[in-house]
Amino acid sequence: MPDTDTAAGAAARAQEQRPLKLSEPLKVGPYTLRHRVVMAPLTRSRAGQPGNVPAPLNACYYAQRASAALIITEATQVSLQGQGYAWTPGIHSREQVEGWRRVADAVHEASGLMFMQLWHVGRISHPSLQPDQMPPVAPSPVKPNAETFIENERGEGELAPCVTPRALQLEEMPYLVRQYWRGARNAMKAGMDGIEVHAANGYLLDQFISSGTNRRTDEYGGAPAQRARLLFEVLDSVCEACGPQKVGVRLSPLSTFNDMHDDDPEATFAYIAGKLNDYGLAYLHIVNPATASVERGVPPEERAQRMIDLIRRTYRGVLMIAGGFNGQSAEHWLEAGTADLIAFGRPFIANPDLPARLFAQAPLNTPDPATFYGGGERGYTDYPSLAQERGEAPKAVIDDRWR
Ligand code: FNR
Repeated sequence: MPDTDTAAGAAARAQEQRPLKLSEPLKVGPYTLRHRVVMAPLTRSRAGQPGNVPAPLNACYYAQRASAALIITEATQVSLQGQGYAWTPGIHSREQVEGWRRVADAVHEASGLMFMQLWHVGRISHPSLQPDQMPPVAPSPVKPNAETFIENERGEGELAPCVTPRALQLEEMPYLVRQYWRGARNAMKAGMDGIEVHAANGYLLDQFISSGTNRRTDEYGGAPAQRARLLFEVLDSVCEACGPQKVGVRLSPLSTFNDMHDDDPEATFAYIAGKLNDYGLAYLHIVNPATASVERGVPPEERAQRMIDLIRRTYRGVLMIAGGFNGQSAEHWLEAGTADLIAFGRPFIANPDLPARLFAQAPLNTPDPATFYGGGERGYTDYPSLAQERGEAPKAVIDDRWR
């Protein structure tokens, strides 16, 4: 009779010896990713001033994280109007393209791969960040119960409530689409390997997608196909700029972040996921509607689970999921076939060598939320790698190259 303890032990050992699914390569568009651990897009509000231009310190930060299967840059505004927080980088000026080129070069030198997340914040902004101090724009004049992060008179960061936005006029829509096209083209000029369209987390494209923020009666409002029209026009234009295989898109179904709501998210996101099949994109990236439960180590609540299943069933391409993962839950989701790639946000802030730590099942550094937005090297480029912690590598030195 088998001894159950021994059998369980043997199973656990076999499990341990089996290569992790997380460490398996995957073809994504024209690239072969070395493994499945992606760096999620992370706003850090540390772009060089004036002009929101990526600085050498930003290049250092990204190069430190080049062992990610893919780095998705922090959200990067496609225009002045697209900015919603202090000190976030843009991709609309010549200086910004040059700044990003230094970042892309540093990441490539360290054998990394990098997509730029293209961003327009819509109503999640503040007149102090807008051209001529104008109100931010949105599909409809619906004031968000949300805050943004602005620079005060003393040059410090400060939270400020969002205001009632101005509804975009129909005549402005082609201009908006053009901003994304220019962003994609500039990203490629800067040497990015692709782009990700940010259609998540309550920013402009999500504001059009969701019925709670889109009260329009023209062809950009109404049924899911109309609310998603701007997203698909943007996708058409960025695909023209850099080819669909180098384009990803991020969505956040069921999220209430930034005061979002949709009357029938299942219908909305089934429509979008289905239509995305026509594009042959690099990937679809979903912000896990079950983030909180995954983080707590409990199964996702039923609606979140059904939403993920719906998207997995409907979308036939590479599916990336982000939100609340550790090594174990990521492996479980890949094993179960729920996702093809897992993106890590906060763990990547605190662990520049996150893939190596996950593969070795080594302990992780804890991120410090006080240094997430704004500031300098502290909480940005000074988290140690495993080798540095063990004294096997010199401490990160930010030399003149990165200043
Ligand atoms: C974020 N997130 C985010 N999402 C996005 O699409 N673009 C962005 O620029 C940012 N910026 C950002 C900054 C910071 C400091 C945090 C903590 C989060 C969301 C992020 O990509 C991810 O979805 C969440 O952090 C959840 O994943 P983790 O952190 O649980 O792995």
